[in-house]
Amino acid sequence: MTKSMRSIVVLAATFVVAGAMCFAQSGEALYQAHCQSCHGPKGVPNPGIAKILGVMPANSPAMKKLTEAEMMAVVKNGKGKMHPIHGLSDAQVKAVVLYFRSLGKK
Ligand code: HEC
Repeated sequence: MTKSMRSIVVLAATFVVAGAMCFAQSGEALYQAHCQSCHGPKGVPNPGIAKILGVMPANSPAMKKLTEAEMMAVVKNGKGKMHPIHGLSDAQVKAVVLYFRSLGKK
């Protein structure tokens, strides 16, 4: 391999890794993929789901009382009618919880 070819390969690999990290850390994309169906696009569940499952909006006082760590535990272990969300790394759980919390502030 020539020197310039090698630097192209290294450069390409760097972009792949950076791209994957960027995706992994997008709390918004993770939220849309894993939470939105029950919690709603803006953190407010649709009335049917809220009634049947008992999901409270992200900006409700009881939800705002939860700490970041408590929310991460809910995502990992589930709670009541919410089953655990599998397949997320710790960093992804944190990113999605931070995004969810940001919805509660709006
Ligand atoms: C299949 C539907 C469903 C999905 C998907 C879902 N949730 Fe939930 N979530 C619920 C329900 C139902 C509750 C209410 C649980 C209870 O208290 O019985 C809840 C409660 C919560 C709570 C509050 C827990 C508490 O102490 O009251 C948080 C925080 C939460 N969800 C975050 C998330 C996040 C973040 C995601 C995505 C990673 C997610 N949820 C995905 C249904 C869902």
